[in-house]
Amino acid sequence: MKQGFLLSIEGPDGSGKSTLIQELASHFSDTGREVVVTREPGGARIAEQIREILLNPDHAEMEAKTELLLYMASRRQHLVEKVLPALERGALVLMDRFIDSSLAYQGYGRGLDLEAIHWLNQFATDGKNPDLTLLLDLPAEQGLGRIQANRSGDVDRLDQEDLSWHQRVRQGYLQLLDENPNRLVKVDASLDLPEVLDQALQRIAERLSL
Ligand code: TYD
Repeated sequence: MKQGFLLSIEGPDGSGKSTLIQELASHFSDTGREVVVTREPGGARIAEQIREILLNPDHAEMEAKTELLLYMASRRQHLVEKVLPALERGALVLMDRFIDSSLAYQGYGRGLDLEAIHWLNQFATDGKNPDLTLLLDLPAEQGLGRIQANRSGDVDRLDQEDLSWHQRVRQGYLQLLDENPNRLVKVDASLDLPEVLDQALQRIAERLSL
C-alpha cells in the first residue's frame, strides 16, 4: 500500500495558496491517487466552529494567547479526526496552513514566545510534521495589495492588521525556512499562476514518488 504524504502549504495572506491548492489537487487526482484537500483553522466540524470564533471581525477583544490556544485546539481536532485517518489510507493530504502558521503569525506576528509555540505544536500534533511544506513567498506590500483588490466585502479579523504585521509574518516565515531547510521549500508567489504551479510541482516531485 502507498504511504500517505502530508503536504502543507504556507504563506502570508494574499499569497495565492487556495488557488494553487486547487490546481495541485486536480493535477494529483489525475494520477489516480486519493487526494484530500483541507485547511486550518477548520477542516472538521468542531474545528470549523473554532474557526468562526477566531476569524469573526467582531471579536476585536481576543487576547493573543487565547488566539494561539484556539488555533491549537482546532489543530488537534482536525488532525485526529481527518488528517491522520487520510494518511493511514495512503492519501496525499494537501493542507492549507499547519504548524508554521502559528509560529509565523502568533510568534513573529504577535510576539508570543516561540519556544512555547513549538511546545504547543508538539503537544497538539504528537510531533506529526508535514513531509514537505511549500512556502509561498511574496513581499508584504504585494500580499496586502492582493487582499485589498480581491476583497468582496468580507474581511476577517486578521485581514484587518496593518503592513508592519504582514512584514513581521513574512520575515517569520523566511526565518522558519532558514531553520528547516529539509522540510520547507520556497516558491516565488509573485510569479503568475502557471509558473508558481510549475515550481511547486518540481519541488514536490523531488520528494514524492508516485
Ligand atoms: P484564512 O481565511 O484561511 O486565510 P488565508 O486564506 O489567508 O489562509 O484564515 C486563516 C487566518 O488565520 C490567516 O490570517 C492566518 C491565520 N492563522 C494564524 O494566525 N495562526 C494559525 O495557526 C493558523 C492555522 C492560521
